[in-house]
Amino acid sequence: MRMIPILFLWLPALVMLPAAQLGPYITHDTRPVITNGPYLLAPAEDSATIVWMTDTPCHSKVVYEDSGGRVREAENGEHGLLPVGLRHVVRLRGLQPGATYRYRVVSTRVVKMKSYWPEKGLSVESRLASFTTFDRRKPACSFSLITDTHEDVKRIASLVQRIDWGGTDFLVHLGDAFHGIESEEAIWNLFLEPLSNALAQTRPLLFVRGNHEARGAAARLLADYVPFPEGRFYYARDHGPVHFVTLDTGEDKDDETNVYAGLNRFKAYREEELAWFREHARTTRRMAEAPFRVLLMHNPGWGWVDQQNGRWTEAANEAGIDLAISGHTHRFAHWEPGRRGNRYHQLIIGPDEVARVDASQTELQVRVTGKDGETVASFSVPRRK
Ligand SMILES: [Fe+2]
Repeated sequence: MRMIPILFLWLPALVMLPAAQLGPYITHDTRPVITNGPYLLAPAEDSATIVWMTDTPCHSKVVYEDSGGRVREAENGEHGLLPVGLRHVVRLRGLQPGATYRYRVVSTRVVKMKSYWPEKGLSVESRLASFTTFDRRKPACSFSLITDTHEDVKRIASLVQRIDWGGTDFLVHLGDAFHGIESEEAIWNLFLEPLSNALAQTRPLLFVRGNHEARGAAARLLADYVPFPEGRFYYARDHGPVHFVTLDTGEDKDDETNVYAGLNRFKAYREEELAWFREHARTTRRMAEAPFRVLLMHNPGWGWVDQQNGRWTEAANEAGIDLAISGHTHRFAHWEPGRRGNRYHQLIIGPDEVARVDASQTELQVRVTGKDGETVASFSVPRRK
């Protein structure tokens, strides 16, 4: 008698079992498609973040292998649940500095989300690719920088063609990839996809936010597409002889400017950032010990900081910055130390220029090339101590 209700409960599930059932729960014979990416972001010595999109809701993981052949998997569980959606962000942690990892991303379709017995689909895998983590012990490093691409996909294609990828450890985009971020699709179509194709799932992108990234309907979603472990757009990294500090120079106009309709709060945000920068410079041993300190920021004039620009220049001077690299003005400039209160070299590159920095133990060799590959400027920054 006690068996009857149990059989009754199971009967509908048994009746509904499809032909495609492969396991203990319903699995439909339908495979998702990777529509964007994957691309590598937030490079560090012990972690990397991989982002991609699928055409249908999936849960995801990254399968990766170190040079010793040890295979591991990284997922992105949050609050006890695997995220199910179209955008997939997986951070690989506990990596070794200067190590090369082979990886592929895997997304498994979730056809129908229910409290019990969600219905699944099949999995899609990306091609196998590899990347190498940052490493402060490396005696030299090289990186390339572009800026102010302003939604111009042809410009991006031209810029990335001119980069010597063979000798570039990573790419920096110095901001203003947009006029204003109007949609999530625009983030891929006008910025990430043209770059991720060029980065070939192999070289990471280090992104610096520009003032135009603070505008538009999807501006508040940007951090979901270019996430950083720190959860903010200012952070530090180490690679080779360089300690990198990336700053967010925010908007270029007062919070009270009517074009923002009272929606901006950069004054307090920038004060917090300045406090972080000063504290980081004061307490981080690597700031003192690295052969070089390179500052990456969009606006060479610090953005709108309520007429406190001098405090920022002084903070950079006290931090011992050797070289700052920016965009924003759409015009090449090289402010040598002492020119505007700066005790460091300030390089500004234009939208059609590529900067390349080769860092050794004794100097930063900087070269800026123009649209036709001509040299716009070339200079070196010697080690101070
Ligand atoms: Fe700008």
